[in-house]
Amino acid sequence: MNVYDSERMGEALNAAGYQSVNVPDEADMVILNTCHIREKAAEKVYSELGRLKKLKDTNEDMIIGVAGCVAQAEGEEMLARAPTVDLVFGPQTFQALPDMLDELADNRADALAENGHIKKAKGVVRTSFPAEEKFATLFETPRQPLVRSPAAFVTVQEGCDKFCTFCVVPYTRGAEVSRAAVEIEAEIISLAQKGVSEITLLGQNVNAWHDEAGGDIGLGQLLRRLAEVAGIERLRYTTSHPRDMDEALIEAHADLPELMPYLHLPVQAGSDKILKAMNRKHTAADYIKLVERIREARPDIALSSDFIVGFPGETEEDFTATLDLVKQVTYAQAYSFKYSPRPGTPASEDPQIEEDVKSERLARLQELLNAQQVHFNKAQTDETLDVLFEKQGKKPGQMVGRSPYLQTVHVDADETVIGKILPVKITKAHANSLSGEILGS
Ligand code: 5AD
Ligand code: SF4
Repeated sequence: MNVYDSERMGEALNAAGYQSVNVPDEADMVILNTCHIREKAAEKVYSELGRLKKLKDTNEDMIIGVAGCVAQAEGEEMLARAPTVDLVFGPQTFQALPDMLDELADNRADALAENGHIKKAKGVVRTSFPAEEKFATLFETPRQPLVRSPAAFVTVQEGCDKFCTFCVVPYTRGAEVSRAAVEIEAEIISLAQKGVSEITLLGQNVNAWHDEAGGDIGLGQLLRRLAEVAGIERLRYTTSHPRDMDEALIEAHADLPELMPYLHLPVQAGSDKILKAMNRKHTAADYIKLVERIREARPDIALSSDFIVGFPGETEEDFTATLDLVKQVTYAQAYSFKYSPRPGTPASEDPQIEEDVKSERLARLQELLNAQQVHFNKAQTDETLDVLFEKQGKKPGQMVGRSPYLQTVHVDADETVIGKILPVKITKAHANSLSGEILGS
């Protein structure tokens, strides 16, 4: 979601005459887009700002901005603590960027007139945005996508009403809102015309997406419509909640060859007691049954999940239930975290698990998950996978793409492969990627 928001900032700035550069040293403006889903985010931002201050010391005109949820939470505080910052703005206020820049230019002109230099110019803070207005501007303004890749993100849903007891998202991103199907379709047609062939639909709770206009349709029906768009060869969506995985969506996995066989379906934990305390509103058995149903519809589907270890009240037995669930489901990929108490969320007020217990459990879980990931990747050796090539690799003559299962695939080839979907014979599997040869080349 933050990658997408950063892209939208790039688009807004492009319209205001800016172009992107590769390193901060070459930039007239640097924006840090931040997330505070887990703790220490603010500290990381301030230490990064310390590094940027050195650049600004050599280029007084440089503009430094902080965007996203850390900016939202810190507000005016941030200008006081890091005077090097010029812009502070909350999530999804990117439409207002040109406006904020005008205001900053005025403040700098005032400072120059008063003090003879711009150093003490007042920074611009935009953290309060009425929810309705936010969604209206977010979704109604026609996009001018800066298409650099054949794979693009499109936000279809925002916010979350689930209130898992560990999570700040319902407070920071607000209530669930779905974007209208006609607008999504129009954006995807325009992206396809610009050469995009893979779309990932985004939402904090993407499978809660629905559109009441013209009959209440859900994500499954939306995917069927989008699969018809000329030029769209691959569809993905993320992130899903198990509770919103309805039959129509599962059937879309069975019927649509465009819908890629990869699903990020966070379970968080394997103990029913912990799942209840997390307010997930499903049991481990419900999740396993759901996975079985999805695999019935699409037998080769690769699954991914998020896990939290050391949630308040988690005993060794509860943690073992998480390991057992992982062994039963088997994942192609996963993200796992130590529970991090977030101010204002219910679980942060409960007695906490000791840090070293959390660390030890995380290490054990990651060992199992990594072994499953390596096993999944190794199983592709000697197989032929369709790879959509997205960009050049780090090594000369190397191109990088994605398999249907979202694995990164490296081949030796020239740039002409970018944007194409080509069959690749996998020759080597690594922990985080695959290498292979394009067939027929
Ligand atoms: N502590 C640890 N992990 C968290 N996540 C969300 N909130 C917390 C928290 N307080 C994880 C969840 C979620 C992912 C995006 O981040 O696993 O699915
Ligand atoms: Fe957070 Fe996801 Fe739970 Fe919503 S469903 S509260 S975003 S973890």
